Amino acid sequence: MADKNDEMIVTPWEVRGKIDYDRLIELFGTQRIDQKLKERIYRVAGEKHMYLERDLFFSHRDLDWLLDEYEKGDKFVIYTGRGPSGPVHIGHIVPWIFTKWLQKRFKTRLYFQLTNDEKFWFNEELTIEDVHRFTRENAIDLLALGFEPENTFLVDDIKDISLLYEIAVRVAKKVTFSTAKAVFGFENSMNIGGIWYPAMQAVLAFLHSEITGTNTPCLIPCAIDQDPHWRVTRDVADKLGYYKPASIQNRFVPGLAEGGKMSASDPMSAIFMTDKPKLAKKKVMNAFTGGRSTAEEQRRLGANPDICSVFKYYNFIFVPDNKELADIERKCRSGEMLCGECKQILVPRVLDFLERHQSAREEVKDRVDEFSASRLMDEIKR
Ligand code: TYM
Repeated sequence: MADKNDEMIVTPWEVRGKIDYDRLIELFGTQRIDQKLKERIYRVAGEKHMYLERDLFFSHRDLDWLLDEYEKGDKFVIYTGRGPSGPVHIGHIVPWIFTKWLQKRFKTRLYFQLTNDEKFWFNEELTIEDVHRFTRENAIDLLALGFEPENTFLVDDIKDISLLYEIAVRVAKKVTFSTAKAVFGFENSMNIGGIWYPAMQAVLAFLHSEITGTNTPCLIPCAIDQDPHWRVTRDVADKLGYYKPASIQNRFVPGLAEGGKMSASDPMSAIFMTDKPKLAKKKVMNAFTGGRSTAEEQRRLGANPDICSVFKYYNFIFVPDNKELADIERKCRSGEMLCGECKQILVPRVLDFLERHQSAREEVKDRVDEFSASRLMDEIKR
């Protein structure tokens, strides 16, 4: 009998169980990124990307259309975001690393939404002070990855509401309560802030068009959990006369425990970008692997990297070299390398990565305001 914990739940607010990505494509009605599309992206971008090579970005909406427009000279903008409910973990930065690549290759604007309103409404425990604090802290993590202010606009839902409200009001008029319930599973106990929230997440797909007065294609890189928002946003786009946003969607970096994704609510399941080295090391050394119960058995039968969180960390971030990754996989499957040894390879890489990120944070921490979208108020052509 299937374990109840294996049941797959993927919504913007909850991801759990054994994730079946093929089924998600079917359920959500997105498209798979096939070899032909990958090659087209490489040709237009002028470079390959590891995340596409490894199928870590695996699903999309309307990417072919977006590239058609681009090749006709109709440039797109990029939109992504973060719900500031706690510190940023390694999973969150996966779409941001890819976003940075897209921004650089396509030389375009990024709108980055910090949804402090969402996290205040959806998380009983968070105070308004908490969400403001995490907004700033999380913005520092994004900027530490190296975005340039000229083309990067941080949108703080609460502080920048005057930039967003008119579009949100128009979006909200086109979404019925029954659609919101059907798509997001809202129940009567949900506060009315939460029910309104999807209008806020839709807004940024249209913000650039609204500011410039020119309908502009928009590409949203994110994990597939956010897709329900794009279904609603795309329906509304038609009704308001905007282009439907395209999106490109990644798999989840798993938690360090067995199954599910990294979760900020279970601190030992995730490596946070601000973790101290000692704690990060402890988390890696305690991580769930695909190993056998004894060393002898593992030497004889080999281990299973397909279910191993350590191997997934290599795949997403820590082993960019394909040959090295294949070598680790071979040694794992054959039993030549045991899990303890394998973790010893990961630990120094994680520590080095965190150290570099934390010093980059120090450098940008006083520059967050330079990136604020409030400077766009003067550009609006309404
Ligand atoms: P949030 O803060 O839950 O997540 C931020 C981004 O990280 C992705 N993500 C992951 N990717 C890989 N592995 C994981 N374990 C993992 N967990 C989360 C999310 O898909 C997201 O891209 N409501 C949104 C904030 C938002 C947004 C957006 C996100 C507003 N507008 C537009 C993406 C695009 C949220 O709470 O994301």
